[in-house]
Parts: sequence; structure tokens; C-alpha cells
Amino acid sequence: MSYYVTTAINYVNAVPHLGHAYEAITADVMARNARARGESTFFLTGTDEHGEPVALAAAAEGVAPLELADRNAERFRALTATLEISNDFFIRTTDPGHVVRVQEILQRVHDAGHVYLGTYEGWYCPRCADFKTEAEMAPDYHCAIHGIPLERESEENWFFRLSAFQERLEALFDGQGDFVMPRHAYNEARSFLAGGLTDVSLTRKTLTWGIDVPWDEGHVFYVWFDALLNYVTALGYARDGEDLTAQFWPATFHVIGKDILKFHAIYWPALLLAADLEPPRHVYVHGFLLGPDGEKMSKSRGNVLDPFDVVGEFGADVLRHYLLREVSSGQDGPVSLDGVRTRYTTELANEYGNLASRTLNMLERYCDGRVAAVALDEGLSGDFAGLTARVDALLDHAELSSALDEIWRLVRRLNRYVEEHAPWQLARAGDRADELTRVLASLAEGLRLVTVLLNPYMPAKTATLLEALGRPELDQRDYAAEGWGGPVGELAPLFPK
Ligand code: MSP
Repeated sequence: MSYYVTTAINYVNAVPHLGHAYEAITADVMARNARARGESTFFLTGTDEHGEPVALAAAAEGVAPLELADRNAERFRALTATLEISNDFFIRTTDPGHVVRVQEILQRVHDAGHVYLGTYEGWYCPRCADFKTEAEMAPDYHCAIHGIPLERESEENWFFRLSAFQERLEALFDGQGDFVMPRHAYNEARSFLAGGLTDVSLTRKTLTWGIDVPWDEGHVFYVWFDALLNYVTALGYARDGEDLTAQFWPATFHVIGKDILKFHAIYWPALLLAADLEPPRHVYVHGFLLGPDGEKMSKSRGNVLDPFDVVGEFGADVLRHYLLREVSSGQDGPVSLDGVRTRYTTELANEYGNLASRTLNMLERYCDGRVAAVALDEGLSGDFAGLTARVDALLDHAELSSALDEIWRLVRRLNRYVEEHAPWQLARAGDRADELTRVLASLAEGLRLVTVLLNPYMPAKTATLLEALGRPELDQRDYAAEGWGGPVGELAPLFPK
């Protein structure tokens, strides 16, 4: 099986904030989990560099659009490294490989008769780079998202015959109830579709910062079509001399925020059908991180947390754990530095970190620093039965926070196991050495397994712990019947207080 997961590509008119980090982390957990279970995986992220929002931001700074794009693309690239994101490629829509493929695919769409020349008149938000229908705008012709006045625009555009795909999209939605997840997002897209599709602009004439339309000089492609195509074009040039399209298309998951649902759930599958390509299997729509004011975190509201600062203070794993534990998948959630601190102490230091150090200390003290090759406690293996399959199934439905809850229940179960069996008392009893050996080997195996399953969420700390256990393999995802019989090493506190 192959697994292809993407994030939305980020606009380079602003610098990264925690909302972008959240999306990258989400997709990264899915990619790492897929790799661990042996799927051939490709994970794509990158930057969206054309279009009016970027041109406007560059003009405001008095620099060329590409200069702004170069600078901010580097910030986004640095963010992936800082967050331990395991993307296989970082696309920039100004890459020549992207540009030629966009032209080639949209030429095909043109030649197949899915576009026509017309005049567009409507209300346009330059920050969204989107025309608004009456239903989508705030009172008095304002943008519902940015609160700025919409502009009345009229220009000659090439149109994409979106309306011609009404039935095929209905069939897609009706035949595939998990095309968009979670359900409330599916329902929203389905009711947009039920409202009836109208054709949309594919090109713009008054803008120059975009990809040239090959069949009509003077037009550039509307940024959304250029941007959406990144998911396909990247596969064509991410690896020198190799075309990965046959191996990875259709994408398994596009991970996006709810503000760009229409583009991904409606425009994108229609465009793919027009280009004779398969629609993606799933679109997963996460919620928004909310700032301290309870509003969507966004640069224009000024309520953002800088992910570089948070990672600087706590480390990437702590932020990753916090976001996926704090915010229920598919829902909005408020986040704060205080929240990070609290979960750090209560869960990472006191629960997981403590479990790790006490397990290794007791193995050292009572078992000569070894995990014995003895039959393991069936009581504990019972608690682990089916855990990995449940986690995988939840992640296949993009329920990342529920999967983490499942794993965390077992972290707590292991701490209770220690209390219930009180190895220090077994050691004092003198005649209960076998039981002591078995309890600690069982505990070690339990700790190993939760750590393997936590690895997609906290790649660095878990790798350190697995190394100390002498069992670094990430693909050993079942609770064993017998202890592995090997020495364990030393471990500095994973989450010092
Ligand atoms: N460039 C377009 C996407 C094109 S995809 C073919 C875009 N860029 S963006 O930079 O504005 O947003 C990138 C992603 O970050 C989107 O999925 C968006 O929903 C997400 N987020 C932006 N702010 C967010 C929060 N406050 N919380 C969570 N995610 C948010 O849209």
C-alpha cells in the first residue's frame, strides 16, 4: 500500500504562526504512523507564492514578490525542521517544475473543452484571493473572514466549467461518505454542492504575479488553481529523473483548515476530473487554533503565538504533544503558553517521563539492568490487546487526538501497574524474585510499546527512550508474549522539571 499525505501550502505574504505549525504536525503524525506500519509513504508540504495577497504584501514592503517569497519560504522551511516534520519534499509554487506542469495540465483541461472566455463581475476579497457569493459575505459587502470591504471587480476571465461537474461530484460525495472528514465538514461541503455549482474564474488579466496561461498571453492562472495543482505536480519532479505520480496518486489525505474547504472538497476534485485524474481519497479538515481572545489565530488579528518561540522554550516534542492532546481533532481549540506548561508538568514529566525513569531505574536496581526473556504478565498483555489496531484505525479517520487518548490511557495503566505490583516490596520479600523479574519485563515491554506508538507524536524523546531500552525499531508494534532479553542503558530525565 502507498500513503500520500499533504498539508495546505502556506501563503508567503506572512510569517509562520502556530496554526501553520499545527497543520504540519498533524500531517506529520499521519505520515510517521503510516511509515511505521510499513506503508510506502510520501509527505508533501510547501509554500503558495503567487497571487494577489503576495503581490500586495510585497508592494507594501517595496520589494519584488519573489524576494518576499524567497524570504518567507525559508521561514516556512525552517519551521518544518524546527518542528521535526518528516516531509519528503518541500514544494514552492515558483519552482520551474511546478510551473511547467501547471501549464501542461491546464492546457489539457482547456483542450478537453472545460474552459471558456467570459466576463466576470463580482465581489472580490484581495486577501482571500476569492470572489464571494452573497451567502459568503458579511453585511455591507465586507469579507466575512478579514472584515475588509470587498471590491467590485469586472474583468475578462477564462472560466472553468465547474457547473458541468455537479453530478459527478454528487456521485463522489454520495458514494464515499468519508471523502471529507470529519462529518460536519462533509455535510458543509455537501450542502454547498446541493446549492448548485456555478462556473469559476480560472485566469486573471489584471494581475501579473502568477503562472502564464499558455493559450492566452496576458492572462495568469488564478492562484487557487495553481496552488491546488501542487499536490500533483510535486510528484512529477520531487525526485530527480523519477515520476512518482503512478505510485502515489490519488493522495490518501489532504490535511487542511476549515477556511479552505470549498477549494479542496469542490473545486479540486472537479479540476482533477477535468484533467482525467482521480480525486483524492480523503480531505481532512482540522479546526482552528484560537488565540487568547478566543478568535482564530491569524496575523491580521495579531493574536498569534510564534512556534519558534514555543519550541525554543519547550522543545518540539512538547509542543506536538500539547497541540494534539489539547485540541480535539476536527474542532477549534484555544491554546496558550500556560496550557503548554501545565501539560508539560502533569503529563509529560509526572506521567510519561516518570514512568520511563522509574522503569529503567528498577530494571537497573532489581534485574541487573536487563529485561529478562521470561513469559510476560497476561494481565498486562490483555490491556494492550488491539491497541495498535485501534490507533491505526483512528488515524485512518484522522482522529489524532482520540488515538493519542488511547495511547495515554495505557501510559496511565502502566503507572498503575507499578503501584499495584510495588516491585520494591517484591524485592524486599526475598522469595519473590521470579515475580519481580516478570513484572519488570512486562512493564518494560509495555513502556516500549506505548513509546513506539507515541513516536509519531514525539519523535525525538521517544527515540531517545527506545535507544535506552535497547529496542529502537519502530515497526515492532505488538505486545510480545515474552521479554526481549537484553540490557538497558541509562536515561537522563526526558522531561526535567
Ligand atoms: N495558500 C492557501 C492554501 C492553498 S492549498 C492548495 C492558504 N494558505 S494559509 O497560509 O493562509 O493557510 C495555510 C493553512 O493553515 C490552511 O489550511 C489554514 O486553514 C491553516 N491555518 C491558518 N490559520 C490557522 C489557525 N489559526 N489554526 C489552524 N490552522 C490554521 O490558505
